[in-house]
Amino acid sequence: MQRIVVLNPKGGSGKTTIAINLASHFALRGERPVLMDFDPQGSSAHWVAKRQKTQARIHLIKAFERDPRVTRTFQLRIPEGTGRVIVDTPAAVEAHEMPELTRTADKILVPVLPSDIDIHACSRCVQNLLLVAKVRRHDNRLGIIANRVRVNTLIYGALSRFLGTLGIPIVATLRDSQNYISAAELGLGLEEMKPYNLGGDLAAWQPLLDWLEMPSARSCAPATMVPSVRLA
Ligand SMILES: Nc1ncnc2c1ncn2[C@@H]1O[C@H](COP(=O)(O)OP(=O)(O)O)[C@@H](O)[C@H]1O
Ligand SMILES: [Mg+2]
Repeated sequence: MQRIVVLNPKGGSGKTTIAINLASHFALRGERPVLMDFDPQGSSAHWVAKRQKTQARIHLIKAFERDPRVTRTFQLRIPEGTGRVIVDTPAAVEAHEMPELTRTADKILVPVLPSDIDIHACSRCVQNLLLVAKVRRHDNRLGIIANRVRVNTLIYGALSRFLGTLGIPIVATLRDSQNYISAAELGLGLEEMKPYNLGGDLAAWQPLLDWLEMPSARSCAPATMVPSVRLA
């Protein structure tokens, strides 16, 4: 089972968009994904609720909810046979919450928008992951996703240079596209949309999907452990 954590304390960077599209991708391939929503805003949960019964099944865990009738471990249990766990995290996760959140992650994805403010926030997030959460640069665990990019803009150049200096790979560059917004409104992933609409958007995911298949230095913590960040 692979655990993928999508994280960036900056709101609106694309965490939910990436989490739901990965869940849809793996569901279509019969990998029985679990989508774990830690954000009290419940955007991933809202998206799952829109899905039709006929669509590929995604098991949702509303990790942002507290159910006093059951233990936390029971609430967050992962069904047997799960192939991937995708963790969608809230905005404003603090540095001290990152070690727990990422400890059992095989892959950590940090989406970043190409704006000066977002690049600054991303740099803090990456520093905290490296220094506080002790994620090692060369473990193939940490990847950046440049999101809502308009290539050839000055700020995109700045983003690429900044990430280059950190030595952390950009594992996907996703353009700003109405397709993400339309798909999310329907409870769909991009791959579940009509193909003639999709242009290059699907192709842009392939480097990320390839990177997810690359082995990473796995944490030796038991797979049943769950991050307890932001327990609302
Ligand atoms: N590549 C993209 N192109 C167009 N809109 C996007 C893209 N990525 C995200 N969005 C939109 O931006 C908004 C914020 O994205 P979201 O995934 O909710 O961010 P986060 O979960 O980090 O707060 C949403 O309305 C989403 O549909
Ligand atoms: Mg979100």
